[in-house]
Amino acid sequence: MPATVVVGSQFGDEGKGKIIDFLADHADVVVRFQGGANAGHTVQVGDELYAFHLLPSGVLRRRTMNLIGGGVVVEPGQLLQEIEATRARGHPVTNLRISDRAHVVMPYHKVIDGLEEKLKGSLGAGTTLRGIGPAFEDKVGRFGIRMCDLVDPEVLRAKLEKIVPIKQRLIEAYGGGDRVDLDSLYREQVGYGERLAPFVIDTSDWLDAAIKRKKRILFEGAQGTHLCIDHGIYPFGTSSDCVAGAASVGAGVGPQHLTDIVGVTKAFTSRVGTGPFPTEVDGPIAEHLRERGGGEYGTTTHRPRRVGWLDLVMLRMSVRVNGMTGLAVTKLDVLGGLDRIKVCVGYRHKGKAIKDFPASMRVLSECEPTYREFRGWPDLAETEWISLAKKGKRALPAAVRTYLAFMETQLGVPVRIVSVGRPRSATIGG
Ligand code: GDP
Ligand code: IMO
Ligand code: MG
Repeated sequence: MPATVVVGSQFGDEGKGKIIDFLADHADVVVRFQGGANAGHTVQVGDELYAFHLLPSGVLRRRTMNLIGGGVVVEPGQLLQEIEATRARGHPVTNLRISDRAHVVMPYHKVIDGLEEKLKGSLGAGTTLRGIGPAFEDKVGRFGIRMCDLVDPEVLRAKLEKIVPIKQRLIEAYGGGDRVDLDSLYREQVGYGERLAPFVIDTSDWLDAAIKRKKRILFEGAQGTHLCIDHGIYPFGTSSDCVAGAASVGAGVGPQHLTDIVGVTKAFTSRVGTGPFPTEVDGPIAEHLRERGGGEYGTTTHRPRRVGWLDLVMLRMSVRVNGMTGLAVTKLDVLGGLDRIKVCVGYRHKGKAIKDFPASMRVLSECEPTYREFRGWPDLAETEWISLAKKGKRALPAAVRTYLAFMETQLGVPVRIVSVGRPRSATIGG
């Protein structure tokens, strides 16, 4: 494992945090490269459950360095809270560095996020309200404040003096009543800057040295391929590029280093947010998928996740746009106890078969999935899944192995990691 990129194959929440924590056992560095505190990555160690939003998921492994790359938008107050909460649970969090080029999510970004969502109506994605869209808009519009500015009081003040009145006018134009007070905003942010300054470095340069010393690096994707700003269900996805190529840009490393690309894939599909979802189900099957295995509720927003069958049309595209070299299939235990399990192998649109995932949301919403049915497998207790995981892939129920083999042949990539429960120990492969 020289450099492995781990990305979500679907609509996020595939279990990336769990897989990163698992792989981090053999990694020297974990790097977040895009997204922001919209991510919610769960790691379970023994009975201890952690939900990371900005901290990379390798942070519990003391020998592993954790970098927040320049492609991430950082909400300083949120990050400090996470650092404190993790320290309070006995982890020193000295193994963290933040890129001086990462953009800062300001409180006005969150206000604007809420206002834009309301104004967008049916075009709204149902965002996490973490200010992600407005922060990336400012980055591209060159209104942004970066970490190197946050730790420089003079530059911070000068920038805020220019930007705050513009944001105030925007908030008013949107019909919002919030007042952005320059002095208190400056005082708050300068305080955050002081506390975060010891972590702020040129992470790209740091990584370059690590690569030269043959360190093993894990790139931790957030969100998922179908939420990607370029390849996802636009405009219902997020505002950053979530595919493997973004690791090069967002971490500041050459693309030749990204040779191993693992797509974390839930054994079914889930979605928190709006937009078309061809294999969505409701009724008792949805209840089953949502309630088993800890429940399908957003890690960041706690909203119930919409759920549906595995969709190979989506996944074929994910394999292609990421250049996946392997899959990590999660939550197979959650399907346990269903008699029959469906897998979408194609779409029909107005009576015609469609091979590729459509760009048009109108077409996508009119697509009918074509299913192949599989025999289910038993509903085992977590301890039973863990003892099967200890024995390896061959010990899994035959129906699980058939399901995985079908995924491999349909997608043309090997299943390298199998996850059958939340704890680290419920994992096979590496
Ligand atoms: P991420 O955003 O991709 O890191 O995923 P989340 O952490 O938001 O959501 C995944 C949820 O599924 C978390 O509650 C995990 O603890 C849980 N999880 C991960 N893998 C498995 C698995 O194989 N089985 C079960 N039952 N839960 C899992
Ligand atoms: P992880 O990393 C699932 C969804 C939101 C919304 C859309 C845009 O935990 O997999 P945003 O706040 O980014 O502007 O919201 O994207 N979304 C996620 N859904 N997992 C995530 O992250 C998500 N991050 C954003 O629900 O529909
Ligand atoms: Mg999540």
